[in-house]
Amino acid sequence: MIEALTDIREQALRELQEAKTLQDAEAAKYKFLGRKGLIAGLFGRMRDLSVEERPEAGQALNRLRTELEAAAEAALAKFARKKDALSIDTTLPGRMSHLGALHPLTLVTRHIIDIFRQMGFRVARGPELETVYYNFDALNTPPWHPSRDETDTLYLPNGFVLRTETSPVQIRVMESTQPPVRIIAPGRVYRRDKPDATHSPMFHQVEGLYVDVGVTMADLKGTLIAFYRALFGQDTAVRFRPHFFPFTEPSAEVDVNCFFCAGKGCRICKGTGWIEMGGSGMVDPNVLDGVGYDSEKYTGWAFGLGIERVAMILYGIDNIRTLYDGDVRFLKQYI
Ligand code: DAH
Repeated sequence: MIEALTDIREQALRELQEAKTLQDAEAAKYKFLGRKGLIAGLFGRMRDLSVEERPEAGQALNRLRTELEAAAEAALAKFARKKDALSIDTTLPGRMSHLGALHPLTLVTRHIIDIFRQMGFRVARGPELETVYYNFDALNTPPWHPSRDETDTLYLPNGFVLRTETSPVQIRVMESTQPPVRIIAPGRVYRRDKPDATHSPMFHQVEGLYVDVGVTMADLKGTLIAFYRALFGQDTAVRFRPHFFPFTEPSAEVDVNCFFCAGKGCRICKGTGWIEMGGSGMVDPNVLDGVGYDSEKYTGWAFGLGIERVAMILYGIDNIRTLYDGDVRFLKQYI
């Protein structure tokens, strides 16, 4: 009996393992484990054994049956997987895959970068998690300046802030390079603003900086006029309005003429005929000295502008939130 068990075990394991098709495996399972299979036959032969021999033989047979059942499952599983792979119906129509698209903010940022690249500027980047030093102190921001208020700035422990502007990138670039410097720095900025149709606590800016010997306000005006005309069209009018920024002196806000009412005055330009685009000015000598540049030798200009504002004008978007909702029906328009 025990000899028969050993033979059948070997034979069964071999046949199950060597099965090349699902049918082979099923046939082997049936041959050994089927209702009239070889294992069942051995159980039948128990009758021929003496009462003393039966318990031991019965246990051995049960063990063998369990082992072979597991081996049969394993053999069948191999083919089940192959069967799934083959069950693809190639006559069904294909599934549509949707084309991805660049986000309008990405498109506008790249467009702005392209325009400045052609004028010899390179892209620089800085951290969004910034220190109070780079975000305010190094930019000559006095302790009393309202932009430092906790109501405007998102402060973090240990002297960190979420940067409120891309201007700190100017400092980082100047600290690590010598003039001539010509960079633009796009990126996210954060302010403690209540979200509404034109405000978001996170938005994007582009910073520009040019420092060299003999750089003047005329260079600033010429460059920004060329930039805004490349962006909005050659007949765009650009206006520089005196203003104050801690890091520039003199400083100016930059407006372009309102495209929506052709300068006549409408809701979008609040009746002024002009749309405010950003700030600019001649880099304050204190800032240059602070990074170790000789402010007697070098001069420079800088500007900053909001990217959302540009995207909203270019694409006629009237609510800033549509830029962050991630609604594919909206985003699809910009493929
Ligand atoms: N950082 C300013 C802001 O967020 C914008 C700005 C103004 C940047 C003048 C400049 C500049 O580089 O020269 O409002």
